[in-house]
Amino acid sequence: MSETTIKAQQLSEKQSEFMQLTAEIMEIRKRGEKPLAFIRTYGCQQNVADSEKIKGMLAQSGFDFTDSPDDADFILFNTCAVREHAEDRVFGNVGALKNLKRRHPQILIALCGCMMEEEHVANRIYNSFPFVGLVFGTHSLHHFPELLYRSLVDGKRVFERGNDDKMIYEGIPVRRDGTFKGWLPIMYGCNNFCTYCIVPYVRGRERSREKDVILSEAREMIQGGFKDITLLGQNVNSYGKTLENPVTFAELIREIDAIDGDYWLRFMTSHPKDCSKELIDAIAGGTHISKHLHLPFQSGSDRILKAMNRYYDRKKYLETIRYAKERIDGVSLTSDIIVGFPGETYEDFKQTLSLIREVEFTSLFTFIFSPRKGTPAEKYDDPIPAEEKSKWFQELLDVQEEIAAKRCSAMVGQTERVLIESVKEKTGELNARTGGNIIVELEGSPDLVGTFQNAKITQARNWILKGTL
Ligand code: SAH
Ligand code: SF4
Ligand code: F3S
Repeated sequence: MSETTIKAQQLSEKQSEFMQLTAEIMEIRKRGEKPLAFIRTYGCQQNVADSEKIKGMLAQSGFDFTDSPDDADFILFNTCAVREHAEDRVFGNVGALKNLKRRHPQILIALCGCMMEEEHVANRIYNSFPFVGLVFGTHSLHHFPELLYRSLVDGKRVFERGNDDKMIYEGIPVRRDGTFKGWLPIMYGCNNFCTYCIVPYVRGRERSREKDVILSEAREMIQGGFKDITLLGQNVNSYGKTLENPVTFAELIREIDAIDGDYWLRFMTSHPKDCSKELIDAIAGGTHISKHLHLPFQSGSDRILKAMNRYYDRKKYLETIRYAKERIDGVSLTSDIIVGFPGETYEDFKQTLSLIREVEFTSLFTFIFSPRKGTPAEKYDDPIPAEEKSKWFQELLDVQEEIAAKRCSAMVGQTERVLIESVKEKTGELNARTGGNIIVELEGSPDLVGTFQNAKITQARNWILKGTL
């Protein structure tokens, strides 16, 4: 696919006017009380980041937020289409809103996100869930203010699935969920078309944000006290290719890393086909960049990698890993794996097992193949029964548990810099995380949440560490 230059546009004046108008009508309807929104986000960090924009636009439209759907004037589910299970959960939870709508007929129920870009899903919602008043896809985020206004005022159902996937919109207000841990999208969409994956169909073509916009947002976050910033993209290694003045991802992170402050810089996701030495060198030489590389390999078998359209083989993947281990002292490696891709045999699967033994990942995100409508792999012959795939999956989990336990026990006695993230409700202990993304549980004061501390690792329980400050 040829790469074309993509220029960003600002959120239009018109959308700001719609936010103002919504605030005015809601103030009259609620007699001066703030209307409340309930937002539930499914799926990956891209969706979390989109929800933060939606919350920003809702706040400017006069809304406050609630954790209880029963108190809400507006309910929105931001959905994920990556696996069938994710979609089934959404359908189940939307179905459950029917009674709520009956009890509170004035409530506006809305659905957005990746699932809504699938035509068959939008049709099903339209026909089977008449209480859903507003539906919009990932390409329509920048006119959410107008869609919200129209749904509230016209009282008609509004369904919009855009096809505007070659644009980037800047200037959308963001209301971040966290105060010290935050997401920073650097690009949208994906051009890779791995044969199992729905993302390119629901998120559109790959497009990068301008470097200067990202740098100033990073600066703002760092000055605002953010301690853990994750740069987001489906394939961050191809960042910058669609810009008028192309920039590599390694250049981008080096420039962010040069910003003064006390913070960690992370990123995801890296695609092994273009994870360059330059990038690994940038991590090795960075001041703030976490010594952590999430590099999904999906399968250890070359035959399956080819069928998946991944454009690397086992040898190339292992070379990248070898270089990362050599250059980045104490690097923590994590990955995604799909078990039971169509045509995978037990022999292929054993190559996945041998690869994880060889690399010794800190942790893994493991999935059983789920056929997605409209992707090539949906039509591939898939003779292995589900029970057999579940057995392989369990075998994979057992092997990884052994590896993680070994890796974690090797850390006992070491001192690690950790970011204290939260207080455990049950025990009152602190939850912290290392730069390599390993969870550490500690005793300490709740006041420490949001600060960096040094923790001595005293014990390893499977993949979780215990420590003292
Ligand atoms: N862009 C990222 C991943 C996005 S989706 C990357 O390329 O690494 C996150 C993970 O979900 C993928 O890495 C893959 O392991 C899994 N996944 C995607 N589609 C899937 C499907 N149809 N069935 C099972 N797992 C899938
Ligand atoms: Fe999906 Fe592949 Fe793109 Fe990742 S790189 S989002 S797995 S198509
Ligand atoms: Fe799901 Fe969309 Fe992310 S399909 S995994 S929420 S990009």
